[in-house]
Amino acid sequence: MISRNVNLKAYNTFGMNVTASYFAVFRSVDEITAILHSPEIKNLPLLILGGGSNLLLTKDFDGLVLKNELSGIVPVKTDADTVYVKSAAGEVWHNFVLFTIENNLGGVENLSLIPGSVGAAPMQNIGAYGTEIKDTFYELEAYEIATGQIKTFGLNDCKFGYRESVFKQELKNRYIIISVTFRLTKNPVLNTAYGAINDELQKQGISQPTIRDVSNAVIAIRSSKLPDPKEIGNSGSFFKNPVVLKSHFEKLKQTYADMPSYPVDAEHVKLAAGWLIEKAGWKGKTLGNYGVHKNQALVLVNYGGASGSQIFQLSEDILQSVKSLFDVTLEREVNIL
Ligand code: EPU
Repeated sequence: MISRNVNLKAYNTFGMNVTASYFAVFRSVDEITAILHSPEIKNLPLLILGGGSNLLLTKDFDGLVLKNELSGIVPVKTDADTVYVKSAAGEVWHNFVLFTIENNLGGVENLSLIPGSVGAAPMQNIGAYGTEIKDTFYELEAYEIATGQIKTFGLNDCKFGYRESVFKQELKNRYIIISVTFRLTKNPVLNTAYGAINDELQKQGISQPTIRDVSNAVIAIRSSKLPDPKEIGNSGSFFKNPVVLKSHFEKLKQTYADMPSYPVDAEHVKLAAGWLIEKAGWKGKTLGNYGVHKNQALVLVNYGGASGSQIFQLSEDILQSVKSLFDVTLEREVNIL
């Protein structure tokens, strides 16, 4: 059940060629318990893997990699206009989105084609095109590693923020998410306010979009901007969009009149990290077999054979040049190991 010295290249979307000392797959909760009780892995560091799509592996992992392959998507409860759908955490996120579209249930269509698994989605409150997972989240079940107990977390327990949750903060490495239940609507109100979606629908001549039309528009936009990890190694946005003081933004705006910004609160605005990185001259930059994507400067890419430390160093260089040009500190979104 537990394998030794397993190459992780196929298990991380950056395609990093590193080895895990121990590796096991689980398809049931009983299997998690059995694996965690094996004497050979006692006290070893653990890495729970879903799709491996938000991870930069910079070295071999001297511990146990646990690959979540819990499967199954089932509607569990329905009322006048809501259907609660429970998905096992090991399901591929986009397959879950396709299930909702097949069943004409609204709520996650804007999150089409995001790489990764259902279980990883709440960890960082995945988001795109004006929607975040927290908007349709109902509850999740998680396995407590220390006790083997299954606990249920509701919306408030998860403390969702921008690409944040309690599972990235105080509960980091303490739970394995095993299922997520979403509250989906039978009468979808489409969220097409995000400019690019409307433009894409217009381009396709669609004036009365369905959920499927919105999903297809999102797929078209993502495919045109973001590299497919099956072809070019990457982890989506490498950095978060930074939140800065309004006063600092006003100062920057005097020099950079076209700088994009999004309101946060009375004192803060969010800036577009991709724009800052592009302005600092990094967009499309290639350093041998790795670099910055040509269509979206927020995405670092491995064309094949780059090491995690090379990508990390590149992110460090980008951080420093954005800092010195704009006095803005970027924060990485991707987990570094
Ligand atoms: N921009 C540039 N140059 C670039 C990239 C972006 O000037 O190279 C500008 C755009 O023109 C636009 C602004 O920056 O004015 C924002 O760009 P975009 O709409 O592409 O979105 P983003 O803020 O760069 C975020 C998410 C993405 C998500 C998109 C769409 C983060 C860190 N990233 O990117 O999420 O798909 O919005 O909603 O919030 C991910 O998290 O992995 C991810 C891909």
